[in-house]
Amino acid sequence: MSGLFITLEGPEGAGKSTNREFLAERLRAQGVEVLLTREPGGTPLAERIRELLLAPSDEPMAADTELLLVFAARAQHLAQVIRPALARGCVVLCDRFTDATYAYQGGGRGLSEVRIAVLESFVQGDLRPDLTLVFDLPVEVGLARAAARGRLDRFEQEGRAFFEAVRQTYLRRASEEPQRYRILNAAQSLSQVQQDLDAMLAQIVELCRG
Ligand code: TMP
Repeated sequence: MSGLFITLEGPEGAGKSTNREFLAERLRAQGVEVLLTREPGGTPLAERIRELLLAPSDEPMAADTELLLVFAARAQHLAQVIRPALARGCVVLCDRFTDATYAYQGGGRGLSEVRIAVLESFVQGDLRPDLTLVFDLPVEVGLARAAARGRLDRFEQEGRAFFEAVRQTYLRRASEEPQRYRILNAAQSLSQVQQDLDAMLAQIVELCRG
């Protein structure tokens, strides 16, 4: 038995957190066993690494340090949560995964995608998401939503150019592998985004049932 690995991606302010709950509830209502988790994080140790990554600090974090911390958290999350859940046959719904590393550390920080791919293979082996939903929206809309939430974390303090590169990386990756990605227009109202998710639900449930 092997489960299904679904990831949710997008920039800040795209409504991923609200929509991941919505999608998990819809799938559970269809009798699908769902494990909802997030990155960086998902285990106590990985959540501690998340705090290191998100906390603003006087000491600038080197881009390579950031990259390695992201993959250190991922290795822990895979070992403790994701792989065991997939082995039990669960649907794992993960808020961000390695596409975020390509978008933020690759696109945003300008690190080489070849080096990211080396770490991806090292940490994940052959494991890749089966389906990735990208919540896409214009950079200024996302930044305004994030600012309205209050204190900005270390990533949210980045400027427009960083987030434009993040967005373009997601869109490029989605266009290169259209069978794995679905793009949702997250600039719409929440109810419209959820209607779009509902429209995809039958297809997602079918994938979950194999
Ligand atoms: P969020 O999960 O609350 O959206 O915030 C997590 C932040 O971490 C977000 O700004 C994106 C960033 N991040 C990376 O830079 N690389 C990664 O691989 C992951 C998973 C997240």
